Amino acid sequence: MIEILPSILAADFANLEAEVARVRSSGITMLHCDVMDGHFVPNISIGVPVVASLRKVTDLKLDVHLMIEEPDRYIEAFAEAGADSISVHQEACRHLDRTVRLIQGTGKLAGVVLNPATPISTLEEVLPIVDYVLLMSVNPGFGGQNFIGRVLDKVRALDQKRRSLGLGFPIQIDGGISARNIGECVRAGVDWFVAGSSVFGAKNPAAAIEEMQTEAREATAVGI
Ligand code: DX5
Ligand code: ZN
Repeated sequence: MIEILPSILAADFANLEAEVARVRSSGITMLHCDVMDGHFVPNISIGVPVVASLRKVTDLKLDVHLMIEEPDRYIEAFAEAGADSISVHQEACRHLDRTVRLIQGTGKLAGVVLNPATPISTLEEVLPIVDYVLLMSVNPGFGGQNFIGRVLDKVRALDQKRRSLGLGFPIQIDGGISARNIGECVRAGVDWFVAGSSVFGAKNPAAAIEEMQTEAREATAVGI
């Protein structure tokens, strides 16, 4: 099931409620919230209070992407703030199995994330328990970066792997996604698309999402 997740990192933080309203009409079900700590990634963004505020103004699911060191310390707080799914970087977790179970113990979906340089073999032992896998198509930390095309080889390999294991977790991609490259991502096996600047940077964000949905549908129709 193809889903487009607008990333609020590219939205106007002084007007988040209005920004959410601008994408609401497009049939999306999830919003992506990027949490950065200035340590795991070289940038600082939002935290628990912003997720809690968003929770009050929308019924969309909130997908929280933790780009932070020691994520275990904050999982409960984000769950209580109203996150519906929480993803953590493999590179930031010393005990990834424990962290996945910690997230699931709060009743939320647990995602694991890989940076572009990290191979999918590092997830081998947790694939049977994860709820989704996010493959970064930029080095995390900033919106508006160029899509790293080599990630599609990882998507294809992960898609193969989930088929061979009989698993159904969605594959998410994040970074540099637009109507121009969504088709090739769909054909490679991506299900969930995070899009920041191509949505909120557009004059009409809902129309930008609809264009991506159309491209994605056409790619599915063409088949592999
Ligand atoms: C990057 C973040 C992304 C970011 C994507 O570190 O994880 O979610 O918002 O932004 P765009 O779509 O502009 O590349
Ligand atoms: Zn993200």
